[in-house]
Amino acid sequence: MKKLILFALIGMFALTLSACGERDTRIHVGANIYTYGDNFMNGVVRPELERYAEERDIRLDIVDSENDQGKLNDQVDTFIDRGVDVLAINLVDPAAARSIIEKAKAADIPLILFNKEATEAGVMDIYDKVWYVGTDSAEAGIIQGEMMVADWLANNDWDLNGDGVLQYVLLKGEPGHPDAEARTLEAVKAFTDAGIQVEQLALQASNTWNTGEANDTVAAWLTSAFADRIELIISNNDGMAFGAIQAMKSANVDLPVYGVDALAQAISHIADGEMNGTVLNDGVNQARATLDLAINAAEGNSVTAGSPWIIRQDGTKAVRVPYVPVTKDNYQDFQ
Ligand code: BGC
Ligand code: CA
Repeated sequence: MKKLILFALIGMFALTLSACGERDTRIHVGANIYTYGDNFMNGVVRPELERYAEERDIRLDIVDSENDQGKLNDQVDTFIDRGVDVLAINLVDPAAARSIIEKAKAADIPLILFNKEATEAGVMDIYDKVWYVGTDSAEAGIIQGEMMVADWLANNDWDLNGDGVLQYVLLKGEPGHPDAEARTLEAVKAFTDAGIQVEQLALQASNTWNTGEANDTVAAWLTSAFADRIELIISNNDGMAFGAIQAMKSANVDLPVYGVDALAQAISHIADGEMNGTVLNDGVNQARATLDLAINAAEGNSVTAGSPWIIRQDGTKAVRVPYVPVTKDNYQDFQ
């Protein structure tokens, strides 16, 4: 009998607990990552979103959009049906912002876009409660370009055929993604701006900025007709640079390679001399800025209230977290 009462009590206690759970009054954020298959978004940004949500004591629902914009549209509908207070969205297709912004506007829910900036001109103006958190896309390419130029000028033996021209291959991220486009342009422009002639031997894009794809690409380049002419591998991100490193190891080749993001693995590759440089893409602060803006928007405050973030007054409605160069000279600071 005593046992029965005890079980009944435990049962009631459990019920009370779950009822409390249902009455969660904290700010509710509906968020996604465009694909959990992305080293940077899944390895740096998502963990910090989750950690920082706990620190700020908010309720965060986060889902994987599996690199499918249609799926993301449905996920946003579901979040709106569930009554989230604010949306934090990592677009799959940077050209598809309009449909997401229109959904948020129709439901009168504030929207923070992060990491993939909308590419349609003027689309940020159709709703007064949409903002963007990311970076200045060109900055990463400029910094990566500057470090490559400095190293090229300091290492005469990198010009393997001694023609004074840099023969390079380039691993590009998603075509149409502002980060991929700007990094590709600026990294090469740094050479021509410095008066160094360049010859592009090959360029290959990867929609999900993917290590495995880059491995296959570089493996193919290293057995191609121009294999012996490659002097430098430029990668739009670290994830693809890792693929290049794997392919070089298998082919017993050692060419200079540069990435962007400063993932932990990139820092150890720099320490081991397997990678020449990267650029810190500060995903931790991008995650924090995303939630700081989201919480303020949900509370009806000015979005940057009480935070260190600054919204650019240039029509982009963007918070842009700075990039930082990482080379063999300063990688210890990032370990
Ligand atoms: C990062 C890439 C990532 C991409 C995803 C970029 O800012 O540097 O590593 O794949 O964002 O959108
Ligand atoms: Ca050359």
